Amino acid sequence: MKYIGNKTRLLNFINESIIKAKLPQNGTFIDIFGGTGSVGKYFKNKKYKIIANDFMTYSYIAQYVLIKINKIPSFEKVSLSGLSGALQELNSTTPKSGYIFNNFAPSGIEKRQYFSDNNARKIDAIRDKIENWRNDKLLSDDEYYILVYSLINAADFVANISGTYGAYLKIWRSMALKDLELKIPDITNNDLENEVVQEDANSLIKKISGDILYLDPPYNERQYAPNFHILETLAVWDKQKLVGKTGQRDYSKKKSAYSQKTNSIKAFEDLIANTNTNYIILSYNNEGIIPRDEILRILNNKGKVSEYTTDYRRFRTERDHKRRHYKQCDDKVVEHLYIIKVDKKN
Ligand SMILES: C[S@@+](CC[C@H](N)C(=O)[O-])C[C@H]1O[C@@H](n2cnc3c(N)ncnc32)[C@H](O)[C@@H]1O
Repeated sequence: MKYIGNKTRLLNFINESIIKAKLPQNGTFIDIFGGTGSVGKYFKNKKYKIIANDFMTYSYIAQYVLIKINKIPSFEKVSLSGLSGALQELNSTTPKSGYIFNNFAPSGIEKRQYFSDNNARKIDAIRDKIENWRNDKLLSDDEYYILVYSLINAADFVANISGTYGAYLKIWRSMALKDLELKIPDITNNDLENEVVQEDANSLIKKISGDILYLDPPYNERQYAPNFHILETLAVWDKQKLVGKTGQRDYSKKKSAYSQKTNSIKAFEDLIANTNTNYIILSYNNEGIIPRDEILRILNNKGKVSEYTTDYRRFRTERDHKRRHYKQCDDKVVEHLYIIKVDKKN
């Protein structure tokens, strides 16, 4: 999934840095800003027990499926042939004009162009059917989250956007005209009781402990809730009244301090002070809103810091090319990985 700050392409770099810094190769690994779940899933398969968190619901569902679930459930109440049968039934559901069509398709009431008419109608029919199955007690939690996750991924694949849902494209991109199709998610088993949480990182940190805490906080002023609002809408399915040109949800309770210049340092300092793990790993790039000297000041208070860097290609949307100015004018940013061996006196 195209997601601001997605670490999929940095997993080897993170793993190699962990090996160089001689961190333990098992134990509890906490990914407290989990996003797509890419980091948690990778380290789940390296035999760590994972505690995954994020305050967005679509992220909770992704991490529930990729990290908490170890075995594909039977889907016996909705299909004789398990998950593939359930997906087949959903994929062939008769499309209908509903909430997504009216809010996010060109022929709907609001005339927004996030999905083709046909895909919007398919999303409506499939999402309602999943909710009805759940209300009729035909799905376990695991089964429900797998189906919603599969739909979110399928919808994201055909969304007419250039990277985030902050705007839709005026011209159709070719992927957006393909037929939406639910696919089987890649579910892996590490035989451990992995956990998933949906909470503010700064409140959760006071209640948990483990071996390694991985931190990948937002690093710029783009809030996740408005930039990925349609994924949240599909995850929550509360059909609330949407506002503005792009059909935003109310996100007053989902504003991250890490995306605010005035609050990010205080939030980060509080997070580090309350951390109760043996090691902390922080991903942050050279264009982040917390200055490097502040990061080092805060981390040095907690223990011995070592630092690893790699060049990384910038996350861009098409609008960025025209309007944004960057500290570095090429497409590269330097991704920093700070590894801290916590001094237990702190
Ligand atoms: C840089 S992204 C993480 C990307 C992730 N490592 C990946 O590979 O997909 C930061 C994440 O932090 C979440 N977030 C922001 N503020 C938060 C907070 N205060 N508590 C919990 N999660 C938060 C956002 O929803 C977003 O998914």
